[in-house]
Amino acid sequence: MAKERIIYACQSCGFQSPKWLGKCPDCGEWNTLVEEKIERAPHPRGELVLGTNEAPAPISAITTAEKGRVLSGIGEFDRVLGGGLVPGSVILIGGDPGIGKSTLLLQAFAALSQEGLTCLYVSGEESQRQIKMRAERLGIVSPNLLVLSETSLEKILEQVKKIKPSVLVIDSVQTIFTSSLPSAPGSLSQVRESSGSIIVLAKKSGLSTFLIGHVTKDGSLAGPRTLEHMVDTVLYFEGERGHNFRILRAVKNRFGSTNEIGVFEMKEAGLREVSNPSELFLSERPLRAPGSAVICSIEGTRPILVELQALVSSTFLAVPRRTTIGVDHNRVALLVAVLEKKMGLKLYNQDIFVNVAGGVHVDEPAVDLGIVTAVGSSYEEKAIEPRTVLFGEVGLAGEIRGIAQAEARVKEAGKLGFDRCILPLSNSRQLTHIKTPELSGISSLAECWNIIF
Ligand code: TYD
Ligand code: MG
Repeated sequence: MAKERIIYACQSCGFQSPKWLGKCPDCGEWNTLVEEKIERAPHPRGELVLGTNEAPAPISAITTAEKGRVLSGIGEFDRVLGGGLVPGSVILIGGDPGIGKSTLLLQAFAALSQEGLTCLYVSGEESQRQIKMRAERLGIVSPNLLVLSETSLEKILEQVKKIKPSVLVIDSVQTIFTSSLPSAPGSLSQVRESSGSIIVLAKKSGLSTFLIGHVTKDGSLAGPRTLEHMVDTVLYFEGERGHNFRILRAVKNRFGSTNEIGVFEMKEAGLREVSNPSELFLSERPLRAPGSAVICSIEGTRPILVELQALVSSTFLAVPRRTTIGVDHNRVALLVAVLEKKMGLKLYNQDIFVNVAGGVHVDEPAVDLGIVTAVGSSYEEKAIEPRTVLFGEVGLAGEIRGIAQAEARVKEAGKLGFDRCILPLSNSRQLTHIKTPELSGISSLAECWNIIF
């Protein structure tokens, strides 16, 4: 007879404790420990491990025999996956509610089914009719795209074994439950157990699987963190409320580069890929307005032009405000100090707000020059020439340091019709073969000021 044991499991990180605690000692979250019943019956673990009884083999003797990647035809989606879908891989997609995860996967599956793959879309959140209504809106008609509305793990596995699809999506892992555990659907052990079974099935049968996961308030994937370790690829689907564009970002990828992003725009008829994001991010830029600078940032392997805005206004507070959206707060504080010391700007009695237009986040040293010039431009009330792009790292002595992938950045600026590029001198020396845009190599902030103001 199975003996029941009660444990308390943190719903955020998976920590287990024999007694209830208000604060999880592992991840520091409050009120996350929930009572869960554990049956000590012999668990069907045999089925849940990946073991194949193989003997160790020399690495040179192992043949990969990798089946080719499958392209969905949605370029942005394939790029984030590292150049197409690897058969047998398991991909976790997280994102805020209503951001468009279901829409994205329905569209991707429609595209994959057009390639002749049998796709199974399992939804624990919507009925078949609801999915059909969405598909109608997206203009999807494909006999290879099968839709199942189900939350029971056992029934899903049964259907998968019967239909033998090539790709599977579980929308979402938090709604799936197994009857072998007494705890409620959505609880940590349920999510871990049911996803675990699906992952094992996927690995064994070479079935590519997408798992959709909800995101908690602090932005991490809800439920077990452990899930991130079990899957091959973790993608986040992000976007700002009130903005139409969405960014698909890889944060872990066993089959490709991370930091790769795909940009989409949410339209009336679903998601449309944006193959030239720079154009989109710069579309509403005010020309000849002080405090606006265009920078070129590298996201993954692609350069993207974004507009950085700064507003400097005198304050009546003892400690002036430094508010930033889309760039690192500490970085801005540091650069403001450099501006005060090296360029003599009196910023100690000024509030400074820095924002990256369009709701994107840029986080690399190359944006430094954009931040200092946007702040300088707002302070001086002088606009930067609108057809100028800037990038470069700013050091504490006010020197401009070289950055990576300068050529790609310069070319992107040229492609979008910019005619001047202000960049670190060390980079411009290596790019003498580029004629347009005109390159102005600088080695100090003072030189930069001479050029733009
Ligand atoms: P959805 O895919 O249901 O989000 P998630 O699965 O991440 O919760 O997307 C829902 C939102 O997308 C909804 O607010 C409406 C919007 N939407 C469109 O603007 N156009 C469309 O064609 C579709 C299908 C959805
Ligand atoms: Mg959904």
